[in-house]
Amino acid sequence: MSTSVIILAAGKGTRMRSSLPKVLQPLAGRPLLSHVIETAKTLNVQNIITIFGHGGEFVQDTFRNENILWVEQKEQLGTGHAVQTTLSVLPTEGMSLILSGDVPCIGQKTLNQLLSVSRETGIGIVTLTLEDSTGYGRIIRHNGQIQAIIEHKDATDDQHQIKEINTGIYCVSNAKLHEWLPQLSNNNVQGEYYLTDIIAMAIADGLRVASVEPEFSFEVEGVNDRLQLAALERKFQAFQAKQLMQQGVHLIDPARFDLRGKLIAGQDVRIDINVIIEGHCEIGNNVEIGAGCIIKNTKIAAGTIVKPYSIFEDTLVGENTIIGPFARLRPGTQLANDVHIGNFVEVKNSNIGAGSKANHFTYLGDTEIGIDSNIGAGTITCNYDGVNKSKTLIGNHVFIGSNSSLVAPVSIGHGATVGAGSTITRDVIENSLAVERSKQFSKENYQRPQKIKK
Ligand code: UD1
Ligand code: MG
Repeated sequence: MSTSVIILAAGKGTRMRSSLPKVLQPLAGRPLLSHVIETAKTLNVQNIITIFGHGGEFVQDTFRNENILWVEQKEQLGTGHAVQTTLSVLPTEGMSLILSGDVPCIGQKTLNQLLSVSRETGIGIVTLTLEDSTGYGRIIRHNGQIQAIIEHKDATDDQHQIKEINTGIYCVSNAKLHEWLPQLSNNNVQGEYYLTDIIAMAIADGLRVASVEPEFSFEVEGVNDRLQLAALERKFQAFQAKQLMQQGVHLIDPARFDLRGKLIAGQDVRIDINVIIEGHCEIGNNVEIGAGCIIKNTKIAAGTIVKPYSIFEDTLVGENTIIGPFARLRPGTQLANDVHIGNFVEVKNSNIGAGSKANHFTYLGDTEIGIDSNIGAGTITCNYDGVNKSKTLIGNHVFIGSNSSLVAPVSIGHGATVGAGSTITRDVIENSLAVERSKQFSKENYQRPQKIKK
């Protein structure tokens, strides 16, 4: 049986007090709506229909590369009205999962369960029992069977005592949606077309309404304001941290770790506190990541040690390298095995060969370095003449003395030595020594100025 997904994403999100539409607010580094879309894509569904309204073009543009059917709900007249706007594109057969763009953590397992129970009955919902059910639609049961959903504002005092709530996630037969939605009325306290009214319609049609509980309660938490967004962020992070630890990652404090993307980690990876991993990262066996590092779209091979407060973006790091503290590896950096990059060293768009070292206060940009070369403290590759970028080529077994400037384009041959403090503007041939400084002024028996006694 074919399955569609309908995502409600037309709400304004007034309580966020933001110019960004609510469904574009980030959770774990990506829009709320993207979490829902990604989960929907794991479900083998035929189409994903998203109802947009506020910030429409911006929302559509964010997901322009996704295969989504967009339906506009010009006026937000209620959740039932929202789903009604999809009827022109909704298949007449199969089932639809109805999800909310602001309930980002709904899980694949819960939805598969909902699908399987709803296929038997024609309609099912995800419910949850809460100690404090204030504000939610209440599940009305009779002899254990669901009869209706009553919104908080429409409920009697007795109904307010009910702790089982509607999470706003449903699975309904498309034929029934086509039949029921045009019959909704807005005759209620809020004057809205309630999607929840289809439950009573199902009962009137003699159907049984199935229900499932979410695998984890945070899956059905909605986001309405920044407090809820921050609270859900922590729960989602805790969930991801737990998964990583179950896979063998040693997080020194799971509460002080953030993953905004995907991490593939080997065994005995040790991650100290306040590390942020972004995008797609892969970290090999026995890698240690020191406190406060930020690592984005980077692969770090086995045995590497990253000391605190180092920043990586779009880089490839070999085995057994030592990096940091306070190193910055920018896009296009590739380090071979056994490389050392020390404190306050910035590397951009450069390849550094096995065993080479740049341990202190250095900028390497658009540079190729061979094997076993040593780049002295304070070396700068001058890769930019104000308009164009040029390359610096450094061979194998090169020694660059401290505080040297290598003015690109320039090449330093294998085995060459550059004296400290040199400004190198011409190529240095293999195995030669190049020293380029102004002549040293010297005076024997020099006396420093003396303090004048008053
Ligand atoms: C809804 C449910 C309630 C449930 C709660 C769970 C109804 C009538 N009530 O209430 O039973 O306990 O969710 O959180 O459905 N939206 C649109 N267009 C609209 C109205 C809403 O796209 O015209 C979207 C919103 O952006 C949001 C979702 O639908 O993503 C839910 O709407 P919301 O107004 O938050 O519904 P609740 O009153 O919270
Ligand atoms: Mg709501």
